Amino acid sequence: MKEVNNKYNRGRRSFLNWLLGTSLFFASGLSAYPVLRYLWPTDKVMGAGGSRIISIPLDDLPAGEVKFIRYKNRPALVINDFNAGIYALSAVCTHQECIVKWDEKRRELMCPCHGAIFDMFGHVKKSPATRDLEPIAVSVLKDQIIVGGI
Ligand code: FES
Repeated sequence: MKEVNNKYNRGRRSFLNWLLGTSLFFASGLSAYPVLRYLWPTDKVMGAGGSRIISIPLDDLPAGEVKFIRYKNRPALVINDFNAGIYALSAVCTHQECIVKWDEKRRELMCPCHGAIFDMFGHVKKSPATRDLEPIAVSVLKDQIIVGGI
C-alpha cells in the first residue's frame, strides 16, 4: 500500500513539476515580448514606410517637434528644430543597434540599452557609443519634407 502511494506521489509530483516548468516558460515568453517590441519596433509601431524616399507633410512636423519614421526599413527620426531647421538622423544606436529615444526635456537622444547619449544632432556625448548617429538627407519642397533620395 505504501509503495502504491509513493508511485502515485512521484507521478503527481512530476506532473506538477512539468506544469510549473511549462507555465514559467510561457510566462517568461509573454513578459519578454513587450521588451523585444520596445527594442525592435515593427512597421505597425513605427508607421508604414521603409522606402528610400519618404514624404511628410510640413504641417505634420511643426517647429520644435520630432517624428519617428521608418526609413530604408530602419527606424529614423526627423527633427524640426527652432534654430537648426529640419534634419533627419538614423535612430539606430551605433553601439549595438538599439533604438535611441528622444528626450524632449534635454533635447538629446539616449539609448535605453547601455546608456549612450547623443546630442540633438546625433553627436556622441556619452559612451559606450563611439560613432555619431548616421545623418539622413532631407529637403523641403513646397509643403512636403522629403527624407532621403538626394
Ligand atoms: S546599444 Fe546603444 S548604448 Fe549600447
